[in-house]
Amino acid sequence: MDMRCRYLGLSLEHPVVASASPLSGTLDGIRRLEDAGAAAIVMPSLFEERILQEREAIHGLSEVGAESHAEVPGGYFPPTSMSKIGIGGEQTLELIRRAKESCAVPVIPSLNGVTARGWIHYATLMEQAGAPGIELNVYYVAADPEETGSNVEHRVERILTSVKREVSIPVSVKLGPFYSAPGNMAHRLVTAGADGLVLFNRFYQPEIDLQAMRALPTLDLSTAGEARLPLRWIGILFGTLGRSSLAASTGVEGPEDVMKYILAGADVVMTTSSLLRYGPQHVSTLVSGLRAFLEVGGYDSVIHARGALSHRDCGNPAAYERANYLQVLDSFRPGTFEP
Ligand SMILES: Cc1cc2nc3c(=O)[nH]c(=O)nc-3n(C[C@H](O)[C@H](O)[C@H](O)COP(=O)(O)O)c2cc1C
Repeated sequence: MDMRCRYLGLSLEHPVVASASPLSGTLDGIRRLEDAGAAAIVMPSLFEERILQEREAIHGLSEVGAESHAEVPGGYFPPTSMSKIGIGGEQTLELIRRAKESCAVPVIPSLNGVTARGWIHYATLMEQAGAPGIELNVYYVAADPEETGSNVEHRVERILTSVKREVSIPVSVKLGPFYSAPGNMAHRLVTAGADGLVLFNRFYQPEIDLQAMRALPTLDLSTAGEARLPLRWIGILFGTLGRSSLAASTGVEGPEDVMKYILAGADVVMTTSSLLRYGPQHVSTLVSGLRAFLEVGGYDSVIHARGALSHRDCGNPAAYERANYLQVLDSFRPGTFEP
């Protein structure tokens, strides 16, 4: 079975990739993921807020305060009020250098922010440190009702264009699902230079704690049902993005989820929650299980299976569209109610 695939112009042994998480935040962790068989590894993000924190620590609040307060909408935390966010700039660059020296698989750093300001220069430093590519995560919550959807879309395009101007290595965008027209947004980002799209970023929703009477951020690991949203958009976008890659992210639990994403049209399939649940070794279960599914399906390669059940090629494109909504509502039969 030929498991090889390409992602961001890189040749990978197979399509199972470890997405950004604390598991890849140290060289030991990265090596563990590589030993377990991950075909590529995404490092935890270097956050815009962390870069600003570090600059403030060096230069004092007055010099950079204007930039950080004004330009990180709802996302800025003064260094005095909380501990450091994520991993540091120098730590990230050192990890890129060491991973390049000691790992055979691509180790991709992640930049995470919401403005097109000076922090983006870290893209250049990442390239200089030896990064094979960059994943750009614009995790933006448009909490201001005055801000239009088009403004949010332009923000992401602007940030991507600024990063692309800095580097010659490939850049992927980890995109959220909450656009009026995710397909159009994907196309616009590819036109703006995205070498790949990661569908989707998983947004963490706040919870209300009734005991403490407080709104709290929460982080639950994903479940397999959450794969359906990215699956739809991967299926719809397959074959429409030219040379840009499609990475599936969210809801991979077992090999069947990897196989579904490949059939929908993903070049690679990323996972974090399953590795946090079962440990890095779970990568090998995903890879061997994918191989078995491909054999049963009569495929001789991953490439051959890719997109076979996409919107374009599945023979029933309505399954990806509104008609699917009408059919499922129509076919639903209520069960008996519990007493
Ligand atoms: C503990 C934890 C830390 C994460 N850190 C990052 C991060 O630094 N940058 C990022 O882009 N995504 C981060 N993610 C998101 C994952 O990379 C992934 O997109 C998300 O968990 C959905 O994939 P999954 O369903 O396989 O977990 C993190 C997720 C978890 C659970």
